[in-house]
Amino acid sequence: MHVDNMLFTFEKGARKIQLSYVIAKNDFSKAGTVASNIKKTLRKLGISSDIIKRVAVASYETEMNVIIHSHGGKMYLRIDLEKITIIAEDEGPGIEDVEMAMKEGYSTATSQIRELGFGAGMGLPNIKRCADDFEINSSLGNSTIIKVVFNL
Ligand SMILES: Nc1ncnc2c1ncn2[C@@H]1O[C@H](COP(=O)(O)OP(=O)(O)OP(=O)(O)O)[C@@H](O)[C@H]1O
Ligand SMILES: [Mg+2]
Repeated sequence: MHVDNMLFTFEKGARKIQLSYVIAKNDFSKAGTVASNIKKTLRKLGISSDIIKRVAVASYETEMNVIIHSHGGKMYLRIDLEKITIIAEDEGPGIEDVEMAMKEGYSTATSQIRELGFGAGMGLPNIKRCADDFEINSSLGNSTIIKVVFNL
């Protein structure tokens, strides 16, 4: 991953921050770096550790899914006064059955991926559990877009 773009605006005390990250397919050497950068950013802003823990889990699972299951993509961290939003948008191949993918224990991970310790099929259900609001938009042949919101 690398930090792609940063935008900080402060207007009349209203904080707005957006960070975007580029994630390459199968780049296990950088696995977790987006999530740890997000965590570090939230710590610097003095966000409560309770919320940071939930954001860290959700952003790590989101990041790993882009690395493992997609052709690569981007993640965004947006922070304003009321909420933290994590967005992931990848370059496909998309998910055939989103309802199935949301089920605990469902995974299409290969045996090679499972040997690395991934593929329990717990990522998406965990992201949803951590979030105040969760949206997933995907279909076969298209991008997978995930939006996770944490109220402040
Ligand atoms: N960004 C994505 N692009 C394409 N398919 C995805 C994406 N994210 C998830 N999936 C599909 O949804 C399934 C379930 O995802 P989930 O994160 O719950 O489990 P997993 O990644 O297989 O295992 P774990 O997260 O426990 O290591 C995946 O196996 C994959 O088929
Ligand atoms: Mg996963």
